[in-house]
Formats: sequence, structure tokens, C-alpha cells
Amino acid sequence: MSDSADAVIDRVWPDPASDLSDTDLLSLVGFPAERTWLRVNFIASIDGAATRDGRSGGLGDEADHRMFDLLRYEADVVLVGAGTLRDEGYGGFRVSPEAVAWRTAHGMTEHPALAMVSRSLALDPASPLFTDAPARPVVYTVASAPRDRRVALGRVADIVEVGESDADLRRVRDDLTARGLRRIHSEGGPHLFGALLAARVVDALHLTLAPTMESGEAGRIARGHPAVPVGAHLASILRSGDELLLQYLLQRASSARASSATS
Ligand SMILES: NC(=O)c1ccc[n+]([C@@H]2O[C@H](COP(=O)([O-])OP(=O)(O)OC[C@H]3O[C@@H](n4cnc5c(N)ncnc54)[C@H](OP(=O)(O)O)[C@@H]3O)[C@@H](O)[C@H]2O)c1
Repeated sequence: MSDSADAVIDRVWPDPASDLSDTDLLSLVGFPAERTWLRVNFIASIDGAATRDGRSGGLGDEADHRMFDLLRYEADVVLVGAGTLRDEGYGGFRVSPEAVAWRTAHGMTEHPALAMVSRSLALDPASPLFTDAPARPVVYTVASAPRDRRVALGRVADIVEVGESDADLRRVRDDLTARGLRRIHSEGGPHLFGALLAARVVDALHLTLAPTMESGEAGRIARGHPAVPVGAHLASILRSGDELLLQYLLQRASSARASSATS
């Protein structure tokens, strides 16, 4: 790990501390060992925009990028909606050499697996996402998905049907668990997050609050489903300059933790 050149991140609460190392940050955001854990990472402006010019990247600075990378370290799998894959231009899915070194030293595969959710299967089987994948990606889809696309993608990925017209996110979580992929890290996007919330399968949210007002028509970090208020408990507050990096445990997680429930 190279801590020195990174953006400075301080812990505001609990236990205030300055200039946290990567090791400090990893211990703060680690997955619990004993059960499946699904967490989601987003960035939003102070006024709630999830994008600038149609992408999340415009909102983030070095501290957010540092945390974005660190959150992948301990993940067995990164779960992403097809819209984010298309809009953010995900390529061959690999983590940094520092992350590879950390993961192998901790007995993990070099790279997390990649799993995605798509109704339309409008994903290019010839893209590096599939052709340069360190492990065969998993595509969760529905019975109504176009047959020809399903056949084409089936040559480069595992296609798993988990619903008729909407992917059942509980089945997604269960299937990942059955594959031994219990540390599930989702990088969005908003429609997938809305569906994950509606299915009550999210344990934690990592939210970067970017110090900017965007106004305009940008959407929020969760959308597409009827409102499903899910309470959240604040777990930690980090700060880098004017930016806050917040960690919340969602209601499902805190009650499950309290009762020591298994997945
Ligand atoms: N602020 C942030 O941190 C952040 C993070 C990620 C993304 N974003 C931004 O969000 C925007 C993309 O938004 P989005 O909502 O389209 O992203 P998304 O949630 O990643 O993708 C939506 C697509 O995922 C599939 N999907 C989601 N839920 C499904 C379900 N229950 N069943 C079946 N398929 C499902 C569908 O794919 P098909 O269309 O293939 O059927 C759906 O159209 C981009 O501008 C991106 O930059 C922001």
C-alpha cells in the first residue's frame, strides 16, 4: 500500500484521528467475518445529485477515489447495475497492484469477481468487461430477457435467471452466497440501489458527501421503486477537507447484528 501520496482523510467520529493510513481505513470499513454482507458505495452532492454531466466521477475528488479503491480491497464480488456499467464505461475489471498484493497476502483471489444485473442484456459480449475479466462474470437477469442476447452473453459469462420481469435481489444475494461470494460490494447505480433497498438486502451504505450544490435535473442515489423508508444508523464520519465520507448501517443490518442472526 502507498499511504503517503494519498489524499488526507481524518476520522471525525468515533475516536477522532488525523491522516488515517490505508490500513486504518480498511479496518474501519471491513466486512464482518461471520455472515453475508452487502454494502453499497455512492457519492452525492450536498443537494442530493448523484451525477454531474451524467456521471458520478465529476463529483468525486482524490479522497473519494481513494475510498472507492479501498472499498474494493476486501470484496469477494463487486455488484453493479447494467446502467452504471454502460454509463461509467467499466472496462476489464481489475483492482490496483497494491490491492492485488493486499488481497493475496490475505488469502484472497487477486481480483474480486464481477456480477451485474440486467433486464435487457444490452451488454456487449466483446467488451473488455467480459474478454479481459480475470474471472467469468455473473449476469443476473430475468425470464423476459431477449433470447439471442442471452445466448451471446452465455459464451462469456454465467447467466442466472432470478425473476420474470424484475430481478429478485434476494435471489441474487443468495446465489452470490452459494458461490462463496459473501462479501458483496455494490458500486450502484441508483436503480439497482432502489431495488436492493426494496428487497431489504442492504447492510451498509458508504456515502461520500461532495461539497457542492449541483441543482439541475440529476437523479438521487436511490430511485425507480416506490418509497421504502429504511432507517440507518451512523457508524462513522470521515472528513477530507470540505468533503465528508459517511458510513451507515441500514436497519436490516443493525437489527440482524443485534440478534446475531445469520444470513
Ligand atoms: N453517484 C454515484 O455514486 C453513482 C454510482 C453509480 C452510478 N451512478 C450514475 O448513475 C447513472 C446510471 O443510473 P442507473 O440507475 O441507470 O444505473 P444502474 O442502477 O446501475 O442500472 C440500471 C439498470 O440495471 C438493471 N437493473 C437494475 N435493477 C434491476 C432489477 N431489479 N431487475 C432487472 N434489471 C435491473 C437494468 O438494466 P438493463 O437496462 O440492462 O435492463 C436497469 O436499466 C449513471 O449516470 C452513473 O454515472 C452514480
